[in-house]
Amino acid sequence: MGTGIAQIALSSGHRVFLTDAETRAVDRARDSIEAALRRDVEKSRLTPQDAEAAVQRLTCVPPDSGLDSFRGCALVIEAVVEKLDVKQGTFRALERVVSEGCVLATNTSSLSVTSIGSACDRPERLLGVHFFNPAPVMPLVEIVPGLRTSPDVTAAARRIVDGWQKTTVLASDTPGFIVNRIARPLYGEALRILEEGIANAPTIDWAMRELGGFPMGPFLLMDFIGLDVNYAVTESIWTALHFDPRYRPSVTQKRLVEAGLLGRKSGRGYYDYSPDAPQRAATEDQALGERIVRRILCMLINEAVDALFLRVASAEDIELAMTKGVNYPQGLLAWGDQLGLDEVLAELGRLQEEYEEDRYRPSPLLKRMVRERRKFFS
Ligand SMILES: NC(=O)c1ccc[n+]([C@@H]2O[C@H](COP(=O)([O-])OP(=O)(O)OC[C@H]3O[C@@H](n4cnc5c(N)ncnc54)[C@H](O)[C@@H]3O)[C@@H](O)[C@H]2O)c1
Repeated sequence: MGTGIAQIALSSGHRVFLTDAETRAVDRARDSIEAALRRDVEKSRLTPQDAEAAVQRLTCVPPDSGLDSFRGCALVIEAVVEKLDVKQGTFRALERVVSEGCVLATNTSSLSVTSIGSACDRPERLLGVHFFNPAPVMPLVEIVPGLRTSPDVTAAARRIVDGWQKTTVLASDTPGFIVNRIARPLYGEALRILEEGIANAPTIDWAMRELGGFPMGPFLLMDFIGLDVNYAVTESIWTALHFDPRYRPSVTQKRLVEAGLLGRKSGRGYYDYSPDAPQRAATEDQALGERIVRRILCMLINEAVDALFLRVASAEDIELAMTKGVNYPQGLLAWGDQLGLDEVLAELGRLQEEYEEDRYRPSPLLKRMVRERRKFFS
């Protein structure tokens, strides 16, 4: 992620200093940035002169030379491993060298920004700036002020990232921020449907893609993300939200992770990627497909409504986040309007009655909107 973020800043005309704990990672980062710039030249997105100038603006700092090179930086974005103590240690070390006015940003996906900032002498200058993978391609960036972040710092960081041709949204410092929180039911509910034997993975993927209009089915997407990564995100959000059953991870997925079947990167996950593997076919049953889409979609809409209810973000930013961050075909609140919020509530009611699980509880805001016959967007 650090490499991609550095590439964006370089392409936008900044001088960039890049380091890592591993020499190999620094070398790989330089190679990867140079290769990306070469590709940009080949595709006429960049002139050879601009590409060369970008390479000249990059300083790769070897791990053993400390952080002194970062002294003159106006913004430092941290993308080290997702461990609280490592991130806190990184910022404590940075605070000793950077200037008073330097903004400190973390690319954390799942840790509390407030908690990372609490290690700093000046937590008001630290915020979350959360990119999506691959950072140079994905347009969305979540801007996440911690509890003690100064509004000026948030505004300044947002201005810089907006200048990088990114779409920024403002998220509250809550588990999973906007995208990773609201997207949970896409995986969780698909896994429940699989576990119950209602449909197999290819059928669920077919339904979500062909009937739901999602760019990729949930199982193919989990294989692509890596089952270990996807499971860890779910587990961390579930834990951080005090084991709310809405986010409970799947045991089936956990077993696959334990077995080392991590998806594409390990050659097998929900699908088998070995060259001669037989591919299971989808049961292209329209009625079954529509039931699958309705169940998963209503859970997603409810999650988006609840995020709005709990002020995770504004309605506009929730819509932007899901369309620009994970390429959903439309915003979930508008989708709810279109389906009929009363229909969404009725579907959740049916699921809740059937399973008697708190997992299917509707957001108080959904109930209120239906009661008052309102829509999110007129
Ligand atoms: N991969 C994604 O899809 C994604 C998306 C958004 C955000 N993030 C976040 O970005 C961060 C990095 O994720 P990643 O997938 O690039 O991980 P990664 O494991 O590929 O890279 C982390 C890098 O940090 C280095 N590192 C570890 N400790 C360090 C230290 N003390 N000082 C300097 N470097 C150190 C490692 O050597 C490694 O090169 C994490 O916080 C992650 O949650 C990842």
